[in-house]
Amino acid sequence: MTAATSEPKAATSTKPRARPRRAPKPKLPEPDHAYDDSAPARSALVPPRPRVPVTGAPTAEVPAPFAHNAEYEFARLLDFYGVEWVYEPRSFPLRWERGHVTEAFTPDFYLPDIDLFIELTTLKSNLTAEKNRKMRQIKELYPDTKIMMLKKRDYLRLLANYGYGTLTPGHVPEVDRVMITQAKLQQRVHELGEQISRDYADKEPILVGVLRGVLVFIADLMRQITVPTSIDLMAISSYDGNGAGAAAVRIQKDLDLNIKGRDVILVEDIVDTGMTLNHVMEYLQTKRPASVKVCTLLNKPARRMMDVTLDYVGFEIEDEFVVGYGLDFHQRFRGLPYIGTLKHDLLP
Ligand code: IMP
Repeated sequence: MTAATSEPKAATSTKPRARPRRAPKPKLPEPDHAYDDSAPARSALVPPRPRVPVTGAPTAEVPAPFAHNAEYEFARLLDFYGVEWVYEPRSFPLRWERGHVTEAFTPDFYLPDIDLFIELTTLKSNLTAEKNRKMRQIKELYPDTKIMMLKKRDYLRLLANYGYGTLTPGHVPEVDRVMITQAKLQQRVHELGEQISRDYADKEPILVGVLRGVLVFIADLMRQITVPTSIDLMAISSYDGNGAGAAAVRIQKDLDLNIKGRDVILVEDIVDTGMTLNHVMEYLQTKRPASVKVCTLLNKPARRMMDVTLDYVGFEIEDEFVVGYGLDFHQRFRGLPYIGTLKHDLLP
């Protein structure tokens, strides 16, 4: 986003743009050499982006390197949804005179995951003509470049279209950040489904889930498995009732299906200490199935206490308490479409 008063942006190098924002005009060759469009856009991008805190309220002070609050807000929103971004990634020369770039355009953002440049605008419609002209020129001169000019309502819609959040930003004040986006979850569950379908070709496995955290994952996973499957659910509860002080597990709802001689896939939401999984595995083995494999959406190896074998793992995560996509904190947040972390002051 460029302030109406500072239009047009100064022509800068096609090389990554470094701070301060207004670099002196370098001499650039004619269009054919100015920008090798066959090279991946990524190579022309600035390396690591500045880290923008995603927590806390938006401030009146716009932090560097942003020029406008809308840019800062957009960056925060991207961070919240875990979307990678680069600020002012490169300049596109638009006009040349005697080998010098006389006009260039620097989009505000580049989103590598979807290979898209974004220019934000809050300009009133009668002032957008100039920007529109530049956008048209970029599209003509650099036809392989995907670029969009967005107003705020447009970028909320864009994020929703790519599976990040909902049309209303879906903001949950207790959530600190999105660790795994809805889009990444869907992609990984699809991959797990493919892998399981290959491994169980010509078989008919029973998916066994342990309530309640697994509900969302098992329902999605089942729909990504192309071999026939059955499903059964167990409920267990942890208690400290074995007299030795150690936590034990009690079955509250048993299996309904007979798994004897069947191929079982035990589906878990998250394996943390491994105690639950270890206990359930021992229990399932007493029913003499033909085989039991374990598929977990999340694995937190840092807290492992029991030696358990995981056959299919969606994501390995750090030792952080996560919610969403079925996982809860005091029965809340199960319905969030992403996996997120909670603000620290909420956690014990
Ligand atoms: P484990 O017996 O320690 O491996 O714990 C497994 C169970 O603990 C999971 O099925 C979850 O219900 C719960 N759990 C562990 N870590 C988390 C978390 O980060 N968020 C929500 N629930 C969790």
